Amino acid sequence: MSQTVIRINGPRTSVRNLKSFTEDIPVPTKHEVLIKVHSVSLNYRDIAIATSGYPFPVKDNVIPCSDAAGVIVDVGEGVQNLAKGDRVVGTFDPTNLFGQQTNWLNGQGGPVDGVLREYITLPATAAVKIPENSPQSFSEWSTLPCTGVTAWNAFYGNVPLRPGQVVLATGTGGVSLTGIILAKAAGATTIVTSSSDEKLEYVKRKFGADHGINYKTHPEWSKEVLRLTNNEGVDYILENGGSGTIAESLNAVKMGGNISVIGFLSQAKEMPDVAGLALAKGATVRGITVGSTQLLQEVVRFVGTKGLRLPVEREFGFGVQEAVQAYEYLASGGHVGKVCIKVAEEGN
Ligand SMILES: NC(=O)c1ccc[n+]([C@@H]2O[C@H](COP(=O)([O-])OP(=O)(O)OC[C@H]3O[C@@H](n4cnc5c(N)ncnc54)[C@H](OP(=O)(O)O)[C@@H]3O)[C@@H](O)[C@H]2O)c1
Repeated sequence: MSQTVIRINGPRTSVRNLKSFTEDIPVPTKHEVLIKVHSVSLNYRDIAIATSGYPFPVKDNVIPCSDAAGVIVDVGEGVQNLAKGDRVVGTFDPTNLFGQQTNWLNGQGGPVDGVLREYITLPATAAVKIPENSPQSFSEWSTLPCTGVTAWNAFYGNVPLRPGQVVLATGTGGVSLTGIILAKAAGATTIVTSSSDEKLEYVKRKFGADHGINYKTHPEWSKEVLRLTNNEGVDYILENGGSGTIAESLNAVKMGGNISVIGFLSQAKEMPDVAGLALAKGATVRGITVGSTQLLQEVVRFVGTKGLRLPVEREFGFGVQEAVQAYEYLASGGHVGKVCIKVAEEGN
């Protein structure tokens, strides 16, 4: 039995180097499950991997993408916790069951083959069951393994977020909007930044973000944050910009607040004195390395119990041309939230 598999074939210089292949459907070993993939969710990481901008190891000719949701169609003889017909999401790093990530050597779609294909095998311990009869689509669930876990890790991987606290997320991409949705559901006040007033209005209307700040018209956006928070600053920041935005984040954070260093979307012309600024604020500046299976189980349970709808903005079809279009759409920065590839229809 064969399947369509998409690989980054040739030099990693362009998303146009995605190529389609016909390959065997793998057979699950004793403790593995075979998953029919229904949806794959793209991350900025996938653009960075396809264009050699990813700062961690990448395998040649890799099958890209880390995040998929689907249905189990076969199980190894030793699998007890899952069965045929179960709907599941796979983990970002199948070797990381709990605790801190110990390396960057096993993340799907980078150092090892990922999920942009019709069927994948995973260890049964790396597949998390989706709640029965949940209203969310496979595309929505597929956003959780990297994006959802990253935002959850920022809020609950160290000092837990408390109701009533203030959360700021930079940009209107996947991590940011998922973070806004989780934080709102946890009783936080939320602030989002964007380069576009139109996107800010949309995010406030659609996802209930409490405040929006345009970081283009307010390059020193931390001043707006302080104005909105009675000069106190915010408790949590999902910092997606990196070195180019960390100084503003350190100005915007409350005394004793938490900055989760997640992204690398902007480069500082001159690196600020992060140590001095963190000391002055008594702030925690914590690098996030996606997260474990345990964190995925927690965020799946939270989303399921609360009935949260995840921010899938656009779905593309499965095939090499559609995949390139999906990548190019994400790379254009025109999106708000998540971009997904529908590999199979819901009922099939
Ligand atoms: N450390 C980890 O474990 C981890 C996990 C997941 C993601 N990440 C990283 O986190 C970042 C965000 O990922 P994503 O998948 O959410 O990306 P995404 O969906 O592509 O979103 C990126 C958004 O960030 C905003 N942005 C771009 N440049 C910016 C800048 N200079 N300052 C502030 N905002 C900026 C833009 O929003 P507007 O158009 O609204 O301005 C853009 O749409 C990426 O660097 C990704 O690699 C890291």
